[in-house]
Amino acid sequence: MQVFHSIADLRLFLKNQRQQAKTVGLVPTMGALHEGHLSLIEASREQNDVTVCSIFVNPIQFNNPDDLARYPRTLDADCAILAPAGCDAVFAPSVEEMYPEKASLKFDFGDLERVMEGKFRPGHFNGVGIVVSKLFNIVQPDRTYFGQKDLQQVAVVRRMMIDLGFQIELHPRPTLRESDGLAMSSRNRNLTSDERAIAPHIFEGLNLAKAQLLEGQKPTEVKAMIEQHFSKEPAFRLEYFEIVNANTLQSVDEIQATNQTAMCIAAHLGKVRLIDNFVF
Ligand code: PAJ
Repeated sequence: MQVFHSIADLRLFLKNQRQQAKTVGLVPTMGALHEGHLSLIEASREQNDVTVCSIFVNPIQFNNPDDLARYPRTLDADCAILAPAGCDAVFAPSVEEMYPEKASLKFDFGDLERVMEGKFRPGHFNGVGIVVSKLFNIVQPDRTYFGQKDLQQVAVVRRMMIDLGFQIELHPRPTLRESDGLAMSSRNRNLTSDERAIAPHIFEGLNLAKAQLLEGQKPTEVKAMIEQHFSKEPAFRLEYFEIVNANTLQSVDEIQATNQTAMCIAAHLGKVRLIDNFVF
């Protein structure tokens, strides 16, 4: 496995691979890798000759400076698990390499970003749009792999790919969970042991909500139940719980048989902000 810090060196390596008619898969990440990330590497390995994993804590997608400062940076440990996972190239640029000048382009994803993550993290999807489109241009992959854990990110990236005509296949992949149901996340490392013990409360809430919806309860009733569920664990601060059309991400008043429904949640536990969702 080769590790690149410069765009020019990575481009040279990829040019060489493409001259040998090799296909390229890209897995964009911010590092502090876990099995959820590795499942994306695995999917890319199955479908491509060369797998590139980018590791870049993208400052412009953080709206909270403390979250950016606390974000774990573990490049050596990440490389130590990527190599045996069969990753071929790691792209770990510095902030100066990615942003020699402050980006002035602004992405506006309309209704897709007026809700949930976009609403509570203003500017977040602009930062995601800039870094992902830049990575697509640098790597020019045949396929790219994203986790459904960040459902709204997948929707935004899909929109951007359509709008800008990227000729790349987008492969969304299911959320990997710990044995107690907690969605794997780099931010889980920042939980104290007490917080980690109660973190599956989110997954339990989603399960309760799903059962109620399938029994025919209305979204408004289910939302009230979730608020009550979280009031029993005062360590949590529920930020949002939304029942939405899984494609448009807009709230629904009724479950529609013809559309996939998603339940999306964000909650603060101590200093850590956790998100999760179920799609069904
Ligand atoms: P990061 O949070 O590191 O996630 C990288 C990829 O791993 C994303 O596509 C994310 O959805 C996926 N992922 C995270 N947890 C997962 C889990 N438990 N199961 C399956 N996949 C999971 O998302 C980002 O980085 C950034 O926004 C990025 C796209 C790299 C742009 O900076």
